[in-house]
Amino acid sequence: MRVLITGGAGFIAYHLASALLRNNEDVILLDNFNNFYSPDIKRLNVRDLQLLGPAPMHVVDILDRANLRDVFDKTRPDFVVHLAAWAGVRPSLEKPELYSAVNVTGTVNLLELAKEFSIDVKNIIGIGDSENDICMVRECGTGIAFCSQTSYLNLVADIIITEKSFRKILEVAV
Ligand SMILES: NC(=O)c1ccc[n+]([C@@H]2O[C@H](COP(=O)([O-])OP(=O)(O)OC[C@H]3O[C@@H](n4cnc5c(N)ncnc54)[C@H](O)[C@@H]3O)[C@@H](O)[C@H]2O)c1
Repeated sequence: MRVLITGGAGFIAYHLASALLRNNEDVILLDNFNNFYSPDIKRLNVRDLQLLGPAPMHVVDILDRANLRDVFDKTRPDFVVHLAAWAGVRPSLEKPELYSAVNVTGTVNLLELAKEFSIDVKNIIGIGDSENDICMVRECGTGIAFCSQTSYLNLVADIIITEKSFRKILEVAV
């Protein structure tokens, strides 16, 4: 199972990717190493992950649709866990254009590429099982209009920070 994790150098991605790699799943990391906090910390995250197993890192901005498509084309993920975002309520008030571009348009870019590469849209905002398509957030339906990304990520965070294995995450989720 190939899992593409956007925001792959970040905090939650580190815990998710650790759990997946310990479970011998294929992990593909994608991040643009923005400067919301020190990119050095993110590089250390990636270095530690790559000690656990193969975790190719793609330095790409989710707003760059052409390079994003290239990653989809080269890696052909079964699942996309979308964690790339600008976080924080207060700074979002200071930079609303940036936040809406990355958090909304970036998400739309991923959904469009998931469609183009025939990835079930549930699997881009949910954690699923490749055999029977179980979606973590079944009620999401299709498209971001039906699911608040924040509530989904909260759910993911709550489950993932316990560092359960991917299968365990799935069991808990369903
Ligand atoms: N940390 C928490 O406790 C928590 C709880 C609930 C929800 N969340 C949400 O989960 C998501 C991830 O949180 P986190 O704590 O891992 O944040 P993080 O800042 O550590 O990770 C986000 C990663 O996304 C990357 N990124 C940002 N913009 C990008 C872009 N345009 N293209 C590619 N990569 C980009 C950043 O470089 C960063 O490494 C956020 O949406 C956050 O709001 C976090």
